[in-house]
Amino acid sequence: MSQLAIGLMSGTSLDGVDAALVRFTGDRPDVELVGFLTVPYDAEDEARIREVTTGGTTRDCALLHVELGRLFAAAAAALLERTHTRARDVAFVASHGQTVWHEPPRASLQLGDPAVVAERIGVPVVSDFRSRDVAAGGQGAPLVPLADAVLFAADGRPRTLLNIGGIANVTWVPRDGDLDGVIAFDTGPGVAVVDAVVRSCDRDVRFDRDGARAARGTADRTVVQRLLQAPYFDRRPPKSTGRERFGDAYAADLARVVRASRTQASDDDIVATALALTIESIADQFRRWLPSDEIGQVVISGGGARNPTLVDALRDALPGCTVTLFSDLFFDGDAKEAVSFAFLGWLTMRGRVGNVPAATGAAGRRVLGRITPA
Ligand SMILES: Nc1ncnc2c1ncn2[C@@H]1O[C@H](COP(=O)(O)OP(=O)(O)O)[C@@H](O)[C@H]1O
Ligand SMILES: [Mg+2]
Repeated sequence: MSQLAIGLMSGTSLDGVDAALVRFTGDRPDVELVGFLTVPYDAEDEARIREVTTGGTTRDCALLHVELGRLFAAAAAALLERTHTRARDVAFVASHGQTVWHEPPRASLQLGDPAVVAERIGVPVVSDFRSRDVAAGGQGAPLVPLADAVLFAADGRPRTLLNIGGIANVTWVPRDGDLDGVIAFDTGPGVAVVDAVVRSCDRDVRFDRDGARAARGTADRTVVQRLLQAPYFDRRPPKSTGRERFGDAYAADLARVVRASRTQASDDDIVATALALTIESIADQFRRWLPSDEIGQVVISGGGARNPTLVDALRDALPGCTVTLFSDLFFDGDAKEAVSFAFLGWLTMRGRVGNVPAATGAAGRRVLGRITPA
């Protein structure tokens, strides 16, 4: 028996909505990516999200909830059109939503009204995946580890899956694939700080395309080492973070500190320093919290994997590890999180648990999310 579903994801980079059409076959299940697209946010939508994440009003929040519901529905509709698929052939939509506040273990809030998606697409919508894990004392994040362990692990060998979005998160799957042995957490900044630094240099640019600026600049290693002293890096997993810690204000501080330590620092040097922080924090967190002789293959996905300067620097920072692109093993790495949430939706629709307590710190395994009927 096979079933089609749509996974919708919008991450901390605020770059746009990722939509994946996924076919599930069997009970394990086998997962096939049928189609994928990203609908970029326009400048106005992005500004509205940014405003709510940094202290908008209740009204801003309510209006954004509905507006994001429309944008998510539009992304799902565009995907159906692109793949020549009828909505009635889709079993459900799994929608992660847009995180606007993540303060574990107290609260994690995603916006994007599932009622709007259900109304416009006409299929059941699974949403709000994080809150049940938080209610059970967990971080509500990361939630991709179950997908990593079930769908993307290596047979009989350990594997480390590293997704570099706005925030970077890692899942280490032991050789036997045992969920209790999984180690997963957010390592810290992915590309959010680099993006913010690049924007502060040039308002019209959203990110450092192909890592060109970082490659031209010289990182301030002293500043990077100092930033790595922050308590977050010292904290033992389970742990997760977001724009609340590594957002625009953090990036502005980083730029200030670099300029204070080296008065002739160029904009490119600041971008290079932000990128070095991403790389060094990942390497540092691997050394501290992963079993060093069993890291195995490091498989990278997310927008950061599209930045060759980042990928090269990561290879240098992880000597002895093989760094492989997720896209070379499976499918477009930008679709990985949308596919993973489609999988979590598939589990919820069957009443099956979706969290990994070893990763989130929750008191136990839980069925995640809520279902909005068609
Ligand atoms: N060609 C590229 N060169 C450099 N960086 C890129 C490129 N394409 C995408 N990115 C980076 O990827 C980010 C988006 O990654 P994504 O995985 O969608 O993150 P999130 O899950 O946080 O939304 C962009 O903000 C940008 O920093
Ligand atoms: Mg994104």
